Parts: sequence; structure tokens; C-alpha cells
Amino acid sequence: MDAPSIIQAFQRAGQGQVFAFYDQLDQAARDRLLCEAAEIDLAEVELLNRTLLAKGTASVNLEGLNPAPYEPLPENGGNGSEWARAKGAGEAALRAGRVAAFVVAGGQGTRLGYDGPKGTFPVTPIKKKPLFQVFAEKIRAAGLRYGKPIHWFIMTSHANHEATEAFFQENKFFGLDSAKVHFFRQGRMPAVDFNGKILLETKGSIAMSPDGHGGSLRALERSGALDLMKRENIDTLSFFQVDNPLIRVIDPAFIGFHLLRGSEMSSKTVTKAYPEEKVGHFCIQNGKLIVVEYSDLPMALQRETDATGKLRYLAGSIAIHALDREFVRRMATGGEGVSLPFHRADKKIPTIDAAGNPVKPEKANGVKFEMFVFDALPFSRQPIVIETRRADDFSPVKNADGIDSPKTSREDQMRQFARWLKLAGTPVETDATGLPKIEIEVSPLFGYDEDSFLDSIGKRSLKREELTHGPLSLE
Ligand code: UD1
Repeated sequence: MDAPSIIQAFQRAGQGQVFAFYDQLDQAARDRLLCEAAEIDLAEVELLNRTLLAKGTASVNLEGLNPAPYEPLPENGGNGSEWARAKGAGEAALRAGRVAAFVVAGGQGTRLGYDGPKGTFPVTPIKKKPLFQVFAEKIRAAGLRYGKPIHWFIMTSHANHEATEAFFQENKFFGLDSAKVHFFRQGRMPAVDFNGKILLETKGSIAMSPDGHGGSLRALERSGALDLMKRENIDTLSFFQVDNPLIRVIDPAFIGFHLLRGSEMSSKTVTKAYPEEKVGHFCIQNGKLIVVEYSDLPMALQRETDATGKLRYLAGSIAIHALDREFVRRMATGGEGVSLPFHRADKKIPTIDAAGNPVKPEKANGVKFEMFVFDALPFSRQPIVIETRRADDFSPVKNADGIDSPKTSREDQMRQFARWLKLAGTPVETDATGLPKIEIEVSPLFGYDEDSFLDSIGKRSLKREELTHGPLSLE
């Protein structure tokens, strides 16, 4: 579209303010502004203004809400032979190269206070490997184990795309084949004020922000990732978030359940550590599986217990999913009339005033729109929830200190390594929480889960000194 048509479209939509300073801009700045404007789907913004904005602050419908059932682990009453069958099916799919890894890494990492793509944040106890390296090595090791290198899709944002790619290049893709690592940007949405007017960040730029991790479904389609998967005969995506170094990026039993049950979208759950834990809750409403965020579930329900004293809303979401390729395509293209809903978040959005002077608001002055990937669950066929061990799958780095911080995550990694060593019959001294007295780090290339660790440890003799004084680093 040419400049006048874009400007007219904005004026017709009542968004002419976006070009209020256009005449004061030089040609390069005008072009940049037009480019941003062309990214915006005005009809979508109009619809969101009419629906989400008009409604006032979001309130979630809790009618008929119940906790969702899930497949428990064998030690919690699950059927051991079903689990074994699922693991076998997952391994077969991995050997056939049907599975790709997919990380959403477009978030801004504001809570951690880290400047740079979050995946570049150092997390391991001794080597201080960054998150991306931990995932890369797990993916590489799983590819070697199953005899098929695993493709890895990485979703970035406009803000961190170049820096993310450069980081992988500088680090030679951490030993992965660069042809099997695929980066793509997620989409953006404009922020609006409480009257639905698109906000400018500066005279020549719109206040745009990432469209949420739910934007990954559209971005997978738009970037050609789904077509690439089809060409490579990959039908399953193993989805995870960038903040969780403990994740089993490739988990055969989980993938096996997903495939054997004919599920289009499967999710992992851990039982909540305490009633108010800040995770989503798996629920059933109108016969559909949904996730209700901690911020949307009233505290009384978060704390509600059954007759035995057990929490009713026990199944927490750790944002790990398995996704069927063609289901993603259907969600992304609006096939069968489906699409992810947007959520509104009221935020302090840096903007400019009518004279073009910068405004740093002290309280929320507008709204950002975001999609969440778990909102795809109710649209999927046969969605299932599978329990996993927290200690093997979930210890995210979200906050600079306190809960879910670099410190707690580092300690959980060391607890996991100590547990694996004990399983192998190696005496490691730990405290009551399982934290070893010495520093331990196991490279994913040595062992990335119990099975692979036990295979490797038999071949490595450990020195007494390493075990008593540490540090113990298994490469
Ligand atoms: C999220 C989940 C929550 C779950 C918890 C587990 C939401 C709304 N909530 O919470 O249900 O229990 O994780 O750890 O998701 N991201 C993008 N693009 C975006 C926004 C986020 O790629 O536009 C990525 C981030 O890089 C990160 C992940 O999504 O990998 C999670 O984002 P974040 O906003 O930190 O979610 P949480 O509030 O921690």
C-alpha cells in the first residue's frame, strides 16, 4: 500500500492521531512509521476495542468451572504399563524424526531485570552456561541418542531477534547443525489508550509490543516453519518457555501419550507446591479443557480443598505442551472458524502528549493485547494433561531473587544431579532438601535425563576427592 492509502485507512478507522506528527518527520522516519502502521490489522484493533476494552477490566467467567483430570505418574497411582507403552511410542517417534523442539523466547524478561535476550542469561551452577546452551545441548544429546538430529524452532521478538541470532552465531550454535536451528519473529500489537486510540511512543513510532506467546501459532505459519516441518515429516512440536533450565526438552513418555491418545495438544502438569503458587490451573468448563491463570482464579478457589484436605485445583500448568502441526495450522489460519482470543493487560505505556513531549506515566494509561498459547487447548481434539515430576521438569528463572530466581533454579539443578548420582549408587552427601554439600554440574551431553545419565555414569570413574570436596563437573 502507498503512503496516502495507509494514512487514509487510519483516518477512516478513527486512528488518524498516529500520523499527527508525520509532516515534521524526515523521509526515513516517515517510511519507518508507515512500515509499522502497515503491520497493524485495523479491523482486529477495532474488534478488540469493541470487545475487550468496552468490557472494562477483564473478568473471567467462572460458571461451571471444575478441576481438570490428568494422567498421574506411576508413583501417584498411574498405570505403569501405560507409561511404559507411552515411553516406547515416544522413542519410536523420535527415532523416526517426527518431533521438533520449539521455544518461545520473545518475552522481555522485565521481572528478572536482565538486559538482553533471556536465553543468554547464565544459569548452570559451575560452568554458568546460558539457558540457550542448556537447551541446545539437551536437544543435541537427544538427537544423538535417538539417531536423528532434532530441528529446533526459536521464536524471538522484534526487540531481541538480531541479538539472539548473533548469540548463536558467536557460540557456533553450541554444536548444533545451524541448518536445523530456525529463528523467526513473533508478531506485534499496538497499545491503545483507554479510549481505544493507538498510542505513539515517539513522533515517528507507534507503541508496539509482542503479541504474547500465543502469537507463536500465527508466527509458525507465517514464517514457513509449518511447511518446513511438513517437508521434513515432522508432525509434533515440543513447546517450552525460555525461562526453565530444568525442562525435559525431549520427553519420550509425554510425546508418546500425546501420540497414542490422538491428542492435538497435550500439556504437562505438576501439582501445585502451595495453594497460591503463581501458575495457571488446568480446569474443565462446558466440557472443554482450559487454563485459568492464577491472577484470574479467586483465592478461595485456589485454596479450596476436598473432603480429604487435598487442594481441589491442584494441577498447575508449567507451560510445556506438545502440539500437532496441522492443529497449529488450523489455529493460525482460522480454519473451522477457530482463533485464539486476546487478553488485555492494563499497563504504563511510555508515550507522547499532544505537543509531542515524552510522557512517562505513573499509573496505567493504556492497554496491551496479548494471546496465550494455552487458550488453544479448548479448540484441540482429545487434549490431555500429563503429570510430571517437578524436580525433573520445572524450576524457572523469573525473578531476580526469592522464588523462581537464579539461586533457586541453580539449587534445583544440583538437587537433580545429586539424585541421579544416588540412583547410580554413588554416595553424595545432601541436606534434608536433597541439596548436595559439594557443587555439582552435569553437562546435558553427559546426561540430560535419568536414562541418559545412567548410561554414561557407568563409563566414568569418579575420584574420591571430587565427591568429598567438589566441584564435580561431568562433561
Ligand atoms: C507463564 C504462564 C503460566 C505458567 C507459568 C509457568 C502465561 C500468561 N502464564 O507465566 O500459566 O504457569 O508461565 O512458568 O503465559 N513470551 C514470548 N512472547 C511474548 C510473551 C512471552 O515469547 O509476547 C515467552 C517468554 O519469553 C517466556 C514465556 O513466554 O518464555 C512466558 O512468559 P511470561 O510472561 O514470563 O509468563 P509467566 O507470567 O511467567
